[in-house]
Amino acid sequence: MRTIAVLNQKGGVGKTTTVANTAAALATKGKKVVAIDLDPQAHLTIHLGVDAGEDGSGTYDVLVNAADIKDSLVNVRENLFLLGANIDLVGAESELVSVVGRETILREAIEPIRDDYDFLIIDCPPSLGLLSLNALAAVDEVLIPIQPHFLALQGFGQLLQTVSLVSKRINPALKISAILLCMFDSRVTLSAEVKADIAQFLESARDSDCPWSDAKIVPVYIRRNIKLAEAPSYGKTIFEYEPNCNGAIDYQLVADFLCGRIKEKVVVEDIVEELDKDEVEDVEIAAAKLVDDATEIASENAAPIPIQSIGTKPCNEVAEHVKDDAGDVQAGAGADSL
Ligand SMILES: Nc1ncnc2c1ncn2[C@@H]1O[C@H](COP(=O)(O)OP(=O)(O)O)[C@@H](O)[C@H]1O
Ligand SMILES: [Mg+2]
Repeated sequence: MRTIAVLNQKGGVGKTTTVANTAAALATKGKKVVAIDLDPQAHLTIHLGVDAGEDGSGTYDVLVNAADIKDSLVNVRENLFLLGANIDLVGAESELVSVVGRETILREAIEPIRDDYDFLIIDCPPSLGLLSLNALAAVDEVLIPIQPHFLALQGFGQLLQTVSLVSKRINPALKISAILLCMFDSRVTLSAEVKADIAQFLESARDSDCPWSDAKIVPVYIRRNIKLAEAPSYGKTIFEYEPNCNGAIDYQLVADFLCGRIKEKVVVEDIVEELDKDEVEDVEIAAAKLVDDATEIASENAAPIPIQSIGTKPCNEVAEHVKDDAGDVQAGAGADSL
């Protein structure tokens, strides 16, 4: 079972949206998925259409009352099971304060289901307290959603330090596997700048033994899409609410990435960097369109996106080149179909 904590102590960066829709996408691809709501605000529980008051005591019961996780999971969709949260979870941190081994309760609780599911994905609360520590102790991978705006990386150091400490003291298997750029606006230069900062930082850690030495920036960005913000209030995933919108396409691709089906990068910023800086704004808009086209085609075929070194050709030539490549993928999709 792949175990992934979706963590960033900042609120509003896209954690819950990512867990709900990635878990749903994986489940529709036939993977058996457990989603754990570890946030007392219960947004994941509500997003998946579960009444938090009635069926949201799962996480609390498992952590505080030693309930069996198998009895506490709610089957919310085909292949998708939820350990639900509700406001009771607020009390868990203080109730567990004097319990020996309080950081590893969740790790022990999920042990009996390790062989029963393909993915376990945890929606963490916006803090680095005991609940998030339980998530970090229980998983092998951390996925960090980042909203690339001003101050996006504020607090990032503290997050890395926490992961590093947990990996040293409690969970040596722990790795930061991916950074996901959420609410990405490719027309805004800042988005590309934040991405470049993260890429540079990750590159500088490549040969070290820190938990993020193999971390990747997920090569699919989650574009800003109002449908993603509307879906939770209907208790629906994006695939149920608006299956053809950009948000649905992007999260399908994130699921493909987690399944190892997308390996090549959509190197929009690399194209932009090569070009004259004065042209950047126009190019970024063109590049955004290219990504739209490429991801749409990729989602139809679930094949790698072949945008390779494009050099310093003018933007319209680049566009033609990418379209041609994308056409090739479509034509050759059968061979590698998944
Ligand atoms: N790509 C997106 N485009 C537009 N709105 C989004 C997007 N991702 C998330 N949202 C909205 O932004 C808000 C914060 O997202 P959420 O996933 O709840 O963040 P977190 O769990 O990190 O607090 C929510 O209202 C959500 O519906
Ligand atoms: Mg949340």
